[in-house]
Amino acid sequence: MTIARPAAAAAPDLASLPRLGVGVLYVPSLPAFLRQHVDTLDYMAIVPDRFWADDGPRAGTRFREMDRQVELLDWVAERKPIVGHSVGLSIGSADLFDEEHVRQIARWQARYGFPWHSDHLSFNRLPGLDAHSDLAGLAVPVPYDHDVLEMVAERAQRVREIVPVPFLLENNVYYVDLPDQDMSEPEFLNALSARGGCGLLLDIHNVYANSVNHGFDAREFLRAVDLSRVVELHIAGGSEMGGMYTDSHAGPVAGPVWDLLDEVVAAAPNLCAITFEFEDGYLPALGGDDGVLRELERAREAWNRRPAARG
Ligand SMILES: [Fe+2]
Repeated sequence: MTIARPAAAAAPDLASLPRLGVGVLYVPSLPAFLRQHVDTLDYMAIVPDRFWADDGPRAGTRFREMDRQVELLDWVAERKPIVGHSVGLSIGSADLFDEEHVRQIARWQARYGFPWHSDHLSFNRLPGLDAHSDLAGLAVPVPYDHDVLEMVAERAQRVREIVPVPFLLENNVYYVDLPDQDMSEPEFLNALSARGGCGLLLDIHNVYANSVNHGFDAREFLRAVDLSRVVELHIAGGSEMGGMYTDSHAGPVAGPVWDLLDEVVAAAPNLCAITFEFEDGYLPALGGDDGVLRELERAREAWNRRPAARG
């Protein structure tokens, strides 16, 4: 079954973005791979917040860069485009909106020329005096309610004012289905994208994991999302734990995710990038560098199925 839909009008800021191709999300086990195989990548995605220590709003110098990590990043940036995928915004925290974090992202956007940047549609921070004591340690999904939509859309607009490139939000994985939400997840994503002016980073593995755990049809879900707002896709592997299928990024991309990827690529007119994610420490489970190369090669097959690539 394919995902067919009428073509929706795209916001010009997304339609004019560079079509980058296939990349990987940087993890600290990748330096040797990068030095040897950087040419197999069209770009590299990074979590900017992992390249600095954040001493919190009260510190004299809040953001202290980690020199050795930044040195490798600079080396890659001389050769390939860099895309930012932050974890520190916590856009769903009702009592916290950290504009200084956003300004730091803007500085890195200017420095590395991110063509777009993204964060997660979730929250992981609570208001506190420093940047460490208040971390939930994981991305907690937001309820798909009208009040939350209004808050997140307003903040997305503010992010767009501070960082002068398109801003994407990523759909989350969730293990508990919250009762009595105002909207379905696709309805929320579409409304957020329209009202907040942001694009979507569609994590296909998250959709797949949710479909397994909550018993819905992933294809139906994807048909309900406005794919004209999708700029970047995430693909990953997962694993079973405690009766749930988790978004552990613990190895190769899950088989059904490849099928979904092929279909989304064919139906997302503004798609610019497919990013393979794996958790640091799982390089051996992937089969080392060769395993990463295999995943990238398969992702490239999907990328080449874009209608534009097929002419
Ligand atoms: Fe992701």
